[in-house]
Amino acid sequence: MNILALESSCDETAAAVVKDGRTVLSSVIASQADMHAIYGGVVPEIASRKHVEAIVPLVDEALKRADLTRADLDAVAVTYAPGLIGAVLVAVNFAKSVSFALDIPLIPVHHVRGHIAANYLTHADLEPPFVCLCVSGGTTAIVHVKDYTDMEVLGATRDDAAGECFDKTARVLGLGYPGGGPMDKLSQSGDDGRYAFPRASVHDHPLDMSFSGLKTAVLNLIHNTEQKGEQLDLPDLAASFSAAVSDSLVPRLLEAVRMTGCRRVAAAGGVAANSRIRRDLERACREHGCRLWLPDLALCGDNAAMIGCQGYYEYLAGHTAGMELNAYATRDIGRG
Ligand code: KG4
Repeated sequence: MNILALESSCDETAAAVVKDGRTVLSSVIASQADMHAIYGGVVPEIASRKHVEAIVPLVDEALKRADLTRADLDAVAVTYAPGLIGAVLVAVNFAKSVSFALDIPLIPVHHVRGHIAANYLTHADLEPPFVCLCVSGGTTAIVHVKDYTDMEVLGATRDDAAGECFDKTARVLGLGYPGGGPMDKLSQSGDDGRYAFPRASVHDHPLDMSFSGLKTAVLNLIHNTEQKGEQLDLPDLAASFSAAVSDSLVPRLLEAVRMTGCRRVAAAGGVAANSRIRRDLERACREHGCRLWLPDLALCGDNAAMIGCQGYYEYLAGHTAGMELNAYATRDIGRG
C-alpha cells in the first residue's frame, strides 16, 4: 500500500511516499528555518504562505524520487493536529484535494503520533507496547503507547515545551533559531555543574513537568550577569541547562515505567536528538533493566515519512476521514 504523506504543522513543509507503513520510498523536506531565524522564532503568517508555495513542487519531487505516478498512490495521510492552525490547514486542504481527485482514502494523523512512529522506521522490530518520551518544540509529554493507535498521556508539561525552552534560551544567547542543536553542540565541552538551575515538580502529579521556572532562571542569570558586566561561560551554561532539562524528563520516564510495569521505552520529537538526553536515557534504561529504542537523528525533527508510517496504522484501524476533515491547533494524542 503506497501512502503519500504530507506535513505542514510548523515551519517545515514535508512530503513522503511510504509503502506498507515501514518502507520509505521517498522523503523530502523544505525547511523555512532560515526565513524565521531573522525574527528569532516562527512567524505563523509567513509559515502558512511558504507552505502554500512549497507543497506542489515538493509532492512532485516525492513522487519522482519514489519512481511512482499519482496512479500508484493508494491513500493520502496528513498531519491535521496539533500545530500552527494556518500552517496545518495548508497540507490538510492539499490532502483533501488529492483524496478527492484520485478517489483514494484520506487519513488524518496526529503530529505527535507521527513523531512516535519515527521509531518504527528506525527499528524494524519495534512494536507497541512501550512508554514514549515525546519532546519537541510544541510538545513535552510521556505517552503510554498501548497499541499503534491506542495511546494515553501519562504526564505532560504544564507550561512551556522543552524545545521552546531551548529555543528561547538560545535566542537570548544569540545562537539563532532553532536553538536546540547549537545549545547541544555548545554543551559538549561544558561543565554541567557550573550553574545551578531548578528542576521543578508538580504537586500530586509526579509525571507532569514545568519548564517556565527553568526558562526564567536561565534568562535571569543571563541578564544579571550582563548587568554586572561579567562574562558567562557559554559551554558551561549550555551543559548546566541541558542537564536541568534532562533531569526533568528522564526520572519521570522511569516513574512511568514503574507505574505501567512496561519496561519498553522510546523517545520521539526534535529534542530527542539531544545528546545529553539520549545519554541519560541510555544509562537510566541500562540501570533499570529497560529496553530502549531511539529514533535516528534524521527522523527526530519534523518529516512526512513518520506521518506516512503512522498513517498506515491509522488506516488499518479504520481511521479515515471525509471532506469534512478540519485542522486543529491542539488535540489530545489519545483521541488520535
Ligand atoms: O519535532 P520538531 O522538529 O518540531 C516540533 O514538532 O515541534 O522539534 C523542534 C524542536 C526545536 O525546539 C529545536 O530547538 C529542538 O527540537 N531541537 C533540539 C535539538 N535538535 C532540535 N533540542 C535539543 N537538542 C537538540 N540536539
